[in-house]
Amino acid sequence: MIQVHQYEKWWIGLSIAVLAVISITVGVAGFMLGVQVPVPEALVNPNTVAQSGNFSNPGVRQLAPKKYEVYVRAEANPWKFRPDKIEIPVGSTVTFYVTSADVQHGFKLEGTNINVQVLPGQVSKMTATFNQPGTYDFVCTEYCGVGHQNMFGTLTVK
Ligand code: CUA
Repeated sequence: MIQVHQYEKWWIGLSIAVLAVISITVGVAGFMLGVQVPVPEALVNPNTVAQSGNFSNPGVRQLAPKKYEVYVRAEANPWKFRPDKIEIPVGSTVTFYVTSADVQHGFKLEGTNINVQVLPGQVSKMTATFNQPGTYDFVCTEYCGVGHQNMFGTLTVK
């Protein structure tokens, strides 16, 4: 019979306990609290996204009073967000759909927790409510070429 020292038994017990706590935490977060790895809202063809569908005519659409959706297409050469000027009334809840027609870009909107990668072929979706009037800048946060610093725009809440 192998002799296991008392301290060794405690360490084995502690290791199993830590493993159990982590497993339960991950299970509760994933299955009860709905914490999930972000997935793309939709897949699109970056080569044709500018020619057809919602991203061929990007901009603001009203869905209901104080409820809007905004389709944004990020592009390199010329480096630009389309649209780069967005206007919504104060108190609006806005869902953003952002995609890229070419390379990887980013989309960070000041004053909100919106800050996503914008990948060609994928649609990133985020929602925010704007209760304070003002002008909020959005910028590209991923280096995307020599015109990266020109990729910005403003969202005006009035
Ligand atoms: Cu687009 Cu940097």
